[in-house]
Amino acid sequence: MDINISDDLLKQHLIDPELCIRCDTCESACPSNAITHDIRNYVVDADACNGCLECISGCPTGAIDNWRTVHRGAAYTVAEQLGWDHLPPAMGVAEKTRQGIPASAATPMENAYTREAPLRAIVVENRRLTAETSASDIRHIVLEAADDFAWLEGQSIGVLPPGLDAAGHRHMMRLYSVASPRGGDSGIKNRLALTVKRVLEDHEGKPHRGLCSNHICDLQPGAVAEITGPHGRNFLMPDDPSTTLLMICTGTGIAPMRAMLAQRLQRLHTISGRQILFYGARTPEEMPYHAELLALPRGFAETEFAFSRVDGQPKRYVQDALRDHTALVTNCLSDENCYIYLCGLKGMEAGVLAAFEEICRNSGIDWHELAGKLKHNGRLHVETY
Ligand code: FAD
Ligand code: A2P
Repeated sequence: MDINISDDLLKQHLIDPELCIRCDTCESACPSNAITHDIRNYVVDADACNGCLECISGCPTGAIDNWRTVHRGAAYTVAEQLGWDHLPPAMGVAEKTRQGIPASAATPMENAYTREAPLRAIVVENRRLTAETSASDIRHIVLEAADDFAWLEGQSIGVLPPGLDAAGHRHMMRLYSVASPRGGDSGIKNRLALTVKRVLEDHEGKPHRGLCSNHICDLQPGAVAEITGPHGRNFLMPDDPSTTLLMICTGTGIAPMRAMLAQRLQRLHTISGRQILFYGARTPEEMPYHAELLALPRGFAETEFAFSRVDGQPKRYVQDALRDHTALVTNCLSDENCYIYLCGLKGMEAGVLAAFEEICRNSGIDWHELAGKLKHNGRLHVETY
């Protein structure tokens, strides 16, 4: 993006402190070290930012995609930005990029409800998806939102845990992918499902009772959840029915894929592209929506499950399943009409990208060059946590 409007005016890149969940993806993606942070805010140094947009595609809330026209020499300083609770008002219509979004994706509504002005949604269903006997408690939570809460598949909502943090502020919202298509869960408008794992340990396996996931998993029908959003534009699906979707996920990463599959299922007679799903879980009993996926109409979706903890069977991850289907994956990577979505465990991201690299190498394709093109053309979308 050309940030130089004229000799006098600059398009200044800013991060919305109200939407930012401080996940650090922008700072680690910035090639010019223009993004920094303190314990309060992530901010952009106007002198270092060149408008390359490398930071845009990883941001799960869209907090990163904010621009203000300012006079050169009067740009907001880093020190000023570190003190903000809100962005300064925009002159005219706030600009958003469409960097990395499929060309045929619908334009999403974003951030209609915020931490300061959340929506009170009513819980209408809370159902355990994993076997009662299994250690992992993953739940299907259905919320009734408001008439004007219009999400698209691939967007997330924020949930605000009750209570205050040590500094006396409201807790930061946690993001959850919407697991329902834009027309509503089970076709009921305004109803959206979440697929939430109750966090009981940290990523190192030490006991840790996750604040927000436990709050949500304990909500009973009739209870109120305070939600924000809809958030994000980096995981949107193409609306073009001739496109193919290659979906790769683990655990709760199925949520946005469920929404996309349901959206395509509703338009079944118009779809000429393919729906291909690689999905990893510990066992069939611990795989959210296992029965629902098996019940999809014959020929609609090509599903490949990878189970890591089935007695008597070798551990298998999604990246192993990708390697077992080299020809299919090569076709998907090379097909300009195929859009690739990756969601779930952070640890899986590197494994899947390494599998892509290996598969490309064996086919004489330069993965690094291809990966850049895939991202630029909105064909590779990653949401891991
Ligand atoms: P906290 O009290 O905030 O503790 C977080 C700590 O718990 C982490 O530091 C980590 O050590 C540990 N931890 C263990 N397992 C996890 C895990 N699976 N995720 C995060 N931290 C973990 N979660 C879902 O269950 N379903 C979703 O559909 C979903 N979608 C997401 C979409 C996006 C774009 C992002 C960024 C995250 C998503 N998450 C989802 C994760 C979710 O936002 C929370 O991070 C998670 O529920 C933990 O929040 P908590 O308040 O319970 O834990
Ligand atoms: P594992 O048996 O090693 O935990 P979870 O149930 O914790 O959400 O995980 C979902 C699935 O993702 C499990 O099968 C888990 O296997 C698997 N998994 C864990 N780490 C990775 C990784 N680095 N790459 C791919 N899959 C992984």
